[in-house]
Amino acid sequence: MHPSRTPLVIANWKMNKTPSEAALFCDDFLSRLPALPERVELAIAPAFPALERVGRHLLPTRVKLAAQDVHVEPKGAHTGEVSVAMLADVGVAMVLVGHSERRRDRKEIEADFTRKMKRLADAGLSPVYCVGETLEERDGGRTEEVLAAQMTALDAFGDALPPGFVLAYEPVWAIGTGRAATPEMAADAHAFLRARLSERFGAAAAAATRILYGGSVTPANAADLFAKPDIDGGLVGGASLVPADFAALAVAAGA
Ligand code: PGA
Repeated sequence: MHPSRTPLVIANWKMNKTPSEAALFCDDFLSRLPALPERVELAIAPAFPALERVGRHLLPTRVKLAAQDVHVEPKGAHTGEVSVAMLADVGVAMVLVGHSERRRDRKEIEADFTRKMKRLADAGLSPVYCVGETLEERDGGRTEEVLAAQMTALDAFGDALPPGFVLAYEPVWAIGTGRAATPEMAADAHAFLRARLSERFGAAAAAATRILYGGSVTPANAADLFAKPDIDGGLVGGASLVPADFAALAVAAGA
């Protein structure tokens, strides 16, 4: 964590929590909010059906509403998809793009992520762009090559990052496995990503961009991860489903 950047912790609920379960989480979590460090920014990304309900709970608070994905097209004949305008209308402020589960399950690629981030930028929503290598790629010594290739999704933005842009380093082998990257491994990847941002968008933009770590973050390992100067918070799946754990992560991010 670097003092010049505001720490950010995002709950990625994935395909968990019905709207009713999400409301119960909000009642519990929001009662803890006054005790949490104010300088830590927090966001919750529920599944689409729970967005509006969670949004109503979050509206009077400082916790932001996030979405897990968005479609590349603005509207029209795309059965089952959700547009940027729909997300904006229910109060979504940030949207995950390029999560490894979508790369894997939906075969989405960099060209899709570029289009999604452009739509979000046009609508004034923050993209949270997720990158990360598989175990095979890491073992093959290809981590930086893979991250560099994933960062090409930003090439279409000229020399200015999308407003509110957030980067998330999520090694695929660490997601949902209980095997987080060591703080040193994560710090190396974050430093590499910040250097890429600097080459591409300049030192000031790179220094201002938050890079989150994701992959088996828990209240037990968060403090050591967040202590690294290039790690600006977390994108958290499993541990974000439990109000007390998500609160503990906010505390770790504010320490
Ligand atoms: P996890 O998921 O915290 O359950 O590992 C993180 C993510 O996929 O964003």
